[in-house]
Amino acid sequence: MDDLISTLQPSSSQCDTTPRVSSHQVDISSAGQIQNLFPEIEKHHGHGPDILISNAGYGARISDIMDIPLSEFDKMFTVNLRASFILTQSSIPHMRAQKWGRIVYISSIAGHGGGINGCYYAASKAGLMGLAKNLGTKGLAGEGITVNDVAPAMIGGTGMIPGEEFVRGTAGDVSMIPVRRLGETGEVANVVTMVCRTGYLTGQSIMLSGGLK
Ligand SMILES: NC(=O)c1ccc[n+]([C@@H]2O[C@H](COP(=O)([O-])OP(=O)(O)OC[C@H]3O[C@@H](n4cnc5c(N)ncnc54)[C@H](OP(=O)(O)O)[C@@H]3O)[C@@H](O)[C@H]2O)c1
Repeated sequence: MDDLISTLQPSSSQCDTTPRVSSHQVDISSAGQIQNLFPEIEKHHGHGPDILISNAGYGARISDIMDIPLSEFDKMFTVNLRASFILTQSSIPHMRAQKWGRIVYISSIAGHGGGINGCYYAASKAGLMGLAKNLGTKGLAGEGITVNDVAPAMIGGTGMIPGEEFVRGTAGDVSMIPVRRLGETGEVANVVTMVCRTGYLTGQSIMLSGGLK
């Protein structure tokens, strides 16, 4: 359940652009562990993150609402929504101080109501979209900090969708995807990179779904 969170930023020397990378193990369902991460990042890099990409997420395929215990609901929202809220709060002071920052949440096509996971997964991802839309268009935009979400669907080679077999016969069956294949993790990275490089883009949800709606 632990995730490795890496920060990558150029060296402070103008001539040396070698990235400095540090990895930190954090259970993002723990507010304390997330908050402890930030002093560690500052120790390694001299300041907080310039860019936050909140990617870790939890998904379980429980389609009938009556089968979702409250404990499962709480876990879903703690990992998929509350963690991004705390990560954002903790990232903002440095971004504000330097008047530049990028925040990208990995939401999901499910945030629009579809997807193969249950309604509670959909609701947690819709929460991320609301967070991005609100933060990206209200206060933070005027402070040089953009906030957006990338909403993938059917990305293969992942823990959530290892391969085509895993989704055969579901709404995400490859025969239902207009481009007739699963997406690739590198394609998600391409979109996240574009979002980080494009400061005029904020408060938006970018769907990456092979044409699925
Ligand atoms: N694959 C898709 O088609 C798809 C579609 C839409 C959205 N997404 C979103 O994309 C993101 C990445 O998912 P993925 O598809 O790459 O699936 P994945 O391989 O299962 O990745 C999920 C990651 O989240 C981490 N994680 C879960 N709970 C955590 C916790 N409490 N603390 C720290 N890390 C935790 C997992 O770490 P461990 O492995 O250590 O548990 C894992 O590295 C998720 O937000 C997911 O909802 C994926």
